[in-house]
Amino acid sequence: MCGIVGYVGPKQAKPILMQGLKRLEYRGYDSAGIAMLTDSGLMVAKEAGKIINLEKKLGTDDYNCNHGIAHTRWATHGEPTKLNAHPHTDAQEEIALVHNGIIENYRTIKEFLKRQGFDIKTDTDTEILVHLIRFNYLDDLTEAVRHALNQVEGTYGIAVISSLHPGQIVAARMGSPLVIGNGVGENLVASDVAAMLEHTNKVVYLDDGEIATITADDFSITTVQNVKITHTIEEVSWTLDEIEKSGYDHFMLKEIHEQPTTLRNGYRGRLNWEQGIPILGGLNLQYDELRNIKRLIMTACGTSWHAALVGEYFIEELARIPVEVEYASEFRYRAPIFDENSLMLVISQSGETADTLAAMREASHKGITALGMVNTVGSTIARESDGGVYIHAGPEIGVASTKAFTSQVEILFLFGTLLARMRNLSVTQGQDIINSLIKIPSQVEQILKAEDQIKKIAEQYYKANNFLYLGRGINFPVALEGALKLKEISYIHAEGYPAAEMKHGPIALIDENMPVVVIALKDSVYNKVMSNIAEVRARNGKIIAIATEGDTEIAERVNHVIYIPKTYHLLTPLLSIIPLQLLAYHIAVMRGCSVDQPRNLAKSVTVE
Ligand code: G6P
Repeated sequence: MCGIVGYVGPKQAKPILMQGLKRLEYRGYDSAGIAMLTDSGLMVAKEAGKIINLEKKLGTDDYNCNHGIAHTRWATHGEPTKLNAHPHTDAQEEIALVHNGIIENYRTIKEFLKRQGFDIKTDTDTEILVHLIRFNYLDDLTEAVRHALNQVEGTYGIAVISSLHPGQIVAARMGSPLVIGNGVGENLVASDVAAMLEHTNKVVYLDDGEIATITADDFSITTVQNVKITHTIEEVSWTLDEIEKSGYDHFMLKEIHEQPTTLRNGYRGRLNWEQGIPILGGLNLQYDELRNIKRLIMTACGTSWHAALVGEYFIEELARIPVEVEYASEFRYRAPIFDENSLMLVISQSGETADTLAAMREASHKGITALGMVNTVGSTIARESDGGVYIHAGPEIGVASTKAFTSQVEILFLFGTLLARMRNLSVTQGQDIINSLIKIPSQVEQILKAEDQIKKIAEQYYKANNFLYLGRGINFPVALEGALKLKEISYIHAEGYPAAEMKHGPIALIDENMPVVVIALKDSVYNKVMSNIAEVRARNGKIIAIATEGDTEIAERVNHVIYIPKTYHLLTPLLSIIPLQLLAYHIAVMRGCSVDQPRNLAKSVTVE
């Protein structure tokens, strides 16, 4: 949520900052700005709208400068106008600041600053911070930032430059991720590594409450209380290729098509076929500890929450452990009941979602072991959890999550199978599950070949105003996820429902204009779902069915059928979601929507 990038070194800063911003655009894209230190002082430019607008304004001039900061915004306080865009500057235009997060006590500070004679021009919570730094400034920028931060409450990732301190960036973090990129004779700072991969893969992750003073050749880190900190420099394994579109029209389409590979990466090296058991070393739990788990609480937001719901079905059925799935935003303010045999599983693609992180910290305060299931290596949840599993889906750039969802579900299956093997599941049952799992990537490849058929279906319905998604059992959360994909990127209102529950409300919406996507697989509830299909049909709804290969019967009862291969019933979500992702994608493209950067959304939600 909001992207920050800063550069100091021997090269021209503008192209590096602009390229960095484009890499971060998925974090927020309603306005953008840049501040660079030129021979004639600070040069600040901002524009409302996407980064391309800022780029056009700046033109081809490099401004002969090698030190600057830039920002792409997702508005919280104040509309996404040019005035409210970052960077913000002090009255003398000697200090410039970019900020992610929310300064919660900004009103109090604003009143204080006004009384001191400061003129506040914008509607943001951020502007007061730059004035507060100015107010605290004597001759040391880091000290001024430190004093200011000691007066604010809330969350921040900030980068500050000043014409009074050429060649220096001061960055600080509290709740909003920041990472230093350590290059040769140059250093960068950014909200995530995507902005710096072209220049270095050596990084240092700042922790909450830390301030970094960064120059071209060096960086030093202290806490806001002025205690010196040393971090080890880590190497990022993501490659540039992984953060490029590689010939696809959109990141989302690339990521949908990457799923056979990401699913293979998810289980690679993690299966002991002889024992019929998955190996998840990062959990930091011994077998007897796994056996002692009496209750599992999973918490997450958005798509990750849907993955958790799928996991609930699987884990309860196989491992016979009660599972509770809770929105992280709700969990953090509840009074949950734990005992020492409860385990918390925190699921997050980014590893930075504010609510999910807060829920995890709440569990830790209560003494509950919290494991992370995260995609982004080095993210806050990955670092603060008691153990966990990386899903290894690689960078996900499209705001609508696709490959992370299937990888999360896959890792939950591995985790569930492990828990089950610690209990009643036999070696051969474990082996059967593993055998089914390793066929999934090629089955996904097979479904992806139906893209043209799905595109034709999209052509018929892309003008619809509403969609209903129905599923039962383990495919009910898939219906939720299918509906979420559609609404996120096409802005069509879509609801996911348990198929039988349709009678209790949504059926009132069904008429000849209502497309209804039904996941109707040959499983224990097949006949029940067929009855629900009949109910939709009787009201002239248009039915798009996701069905099991070989089911010819269904073709006579619905308007369209997309077939998926047979698999073990608990693994079907890994297949049934694929056509729904493609359907949402093609509908959004046909509606002319900004697929990778849907309006109002952001990839990583680091505010509450
Ligand atoms: C945002 C994203 C979603 C994502 C959710 C949770 O809303 O747009 O795609 O599912 O955050 O994010 P996380 O990184 O915690 O999985």
